[in-house]
Parts: sequence; structure tokens; C-alpha cells
Amino acid sequence: MKEEDLPKVLEISQECFGSDAWNRKAFEREFELDYSYKFVLEKEGEVIGYAIVWKIFYDVTLMSIALKKDYWGKGYGKKLMRFLIEYFRGKAERFLLDVRRSNIRAIRLYQSLGFKIISERAKYYSDGENAFQMALDLEVMDADKGKTAEATHPGRRNSQES
Ligand SMILES: CC(C)(COP(=O)(O)OP(=O)(O)OC[C@H]1O[C@@H](n2cnc3c(N)ncnc32)[C@H](O)[C@@H]1OP(=O)(O)O)[C@@H](O)C(=O)NCCC(=O)NCCS
Repeated sequence: MKEEDLPKVLEISQECFGSDAWNRKAFEREFELDYSYKFVLEKEGEVIGYAIVWKIFYDVTLMSIALKKDYWGKGYGKKLMRFLIEYFRGKAERFLLDVRRSNIRAIRLYQSLGFKIISERAKYYSDGENAFQMALDLEVMDADKGKTAEATHPGRRNSQES
């Protein structure tokens, strides 16, 4: 992500998160943080998604990920997440993220890549919704490349059971 991508990134953030969307200042601040890694996903030269990841010591944390609505459910989210996992493999030990308990689409995406729910944070979001904290062990994947995601794929077992 470059600063010139911000108008498009802001548009996508707004479309996906509404009143919870980051404002321009929040995105601009990311450019001042040396632990912030910022990516855009482009299709035919157009920015259709973005992701922001913080790397602090041996943990990487997904701070935000979103795709333009027109492109949901077509595999682009998985593509972007796979890229991030590959990018940070060997550079970090653990990939962490928080996701709304009700965001089944995102939870399934993360589970299909091997992420596991490790805790539930009560009233994590401003509207009082809980978050699941999820984690992927990047070192296990390193030792046995690719197998973790397959072996732990939960199929359609979803968050309600956790
Ligand atoms: C979450 C998001 C990034 C996922 O990207 P996506 O491109 O829509 O997801 P994909 O098409 O790559 O699908 C990946 C997995 O999600 C799940 N999924 C996709 N569409 C789904 C649907 N309609 N219902 C439930 N799960 C769905 C599936 O498990 C799928 O894997 P599979 O095709 O191998 O079964 C995207 O939908 C988005 O930007 N949402 C709004 C912002 C957001 O919620 N961000 C996450 C905050 S933590």
C-alpha cells in the first residue's frame, strides 16, 4: 500500500465497516509505524482489497483486512490471506487476529487456513459484540508446509460451538 492508494482503501474500509471504519488519519498513522506492514490487492490495476498487519517481536497481528464488496466470496480474501501467511512465514512465529463473533464468513476463511480460536474477548467492539481471538502457528506450518491448513480444516463447524 502506498499513500496514493488511500482514497480507494478508505472507500473499501467505509463500505465494509461503516461507522467502525478507520478514518484517513488512522491509515496515515500506519505509515509512521515501523512495525506496520500494509498491502493492497490489485486486479487489473484497480485496488480491490487491503490488509494491515503489525509485526511485534515474534507475533504478527492482522489489524484490518477488507475487500470491495463486489469481490466477496470469489476467493480473493483467501488469496490475500495466503499471501500474508507466506510473507510472514520465517519472519514470525504466530499469526494473530480478532474477529467479530458474528462474522462467519471471515471466521470460516481463517479456519480454512488453519487458524484456531484461542480466546473470546467479551464486549471487544464498540457495539458490545464479543471477539474471537484466533491464532495460526507459523512455525508448525514451516515444519510441515501446507499440511496444517488441510489437517485442521473444520469444514462447516462454526463459531457457535466454541
Ligand atoms: C472477510 C473477507 C476478507 C473474506 O474475503 P472473501 O474474498 O469474501 O472470501 P473468499 O471468497 O476468499 O472465501 C474464503 C472462505 O470464506 C468462506 N466463505 C466465503 N463466502 C462465504 C459465505 N457467503 N458464507 C460463509 N462463508 C463464506 C469460505 O470458507 C471460503 O473458503 P472456501 O471457498 O474454501 O470454502 C471479505 O468478505 C471482506 O472484506 N469482508 C468485510 C470485511 C471483514 O469482515 N473483514 C474481516 C474482519 S476480521
